[in-house]
Amino acid sequence: MSTVYIVYWSGTGNTEAMAQAVAAGVTEGGAEAVVWNVSEADIEAVAGAKAIALGCPSMGAEQLEESEMEPFMTDLDGKISGKTVGLFGSYGWGAGEWMEDWVNRVNADGATALNGEGIICNGAPDADTLENLKALGRDLAANA
Ligand SMILES: Cc1cc2nc3c(=O)[nH]c(=O)nc-3n(C[C@H](O)[C@H](O)[C@H](O)COP(=O)(O)O)c2cc1C
Repeated sequence: MSTVYIVYWSGTGNTEAMAQAVAAGVTEGGAEAVVWNVSEADIEAVAGAKAIALGCPSMGAEQLEESEMEPFMTDLDGKISGKTVGLFGSYGWGAGEWMEDWVNRVNADGATALNGEGIICNGAPDADTLENLKALGRDLAANA
């Protein structure tokens, strides 16, 4: 069975809830879902997969979380060419700029950001967002 790795950072649980919904979609789609907090992620395993999902809220000033997620992403930048990548994350008060930057970054790495945009939500994911995240997971399973 193919595996989709879902790696996230979450301070207060909103992005973690999003990650679990992506995982449910991956399972529905017939692939194995491995969900890792970024602090425990095996970057070589992630680099070896065809389809991955990455989640992080907007932190700093419209940035990835700087102590764990940004260093992980910097490591990954040279390793994701050709992959299908699903991006997701929660935000508070901004307009989603961090996610636009992240989508552009992933595409510049030679990967394909699924749907051409990330799935974002203000605070905790609502029912519609959870459905969209499951659909993302099913799409990732189809590309794994
Ligand atoms: C230090 C810090 C910086 C933040 N910076 C932003 C920001 O630039 N833009 C924004 O929309 N939200 C910002 N937020 C709000 C978080 O993105 C929001 O609370 C989000 O729901 C947290 O997701 P989590 O529960 O997965 O940690 C910030 C929150 C913190 C704690």
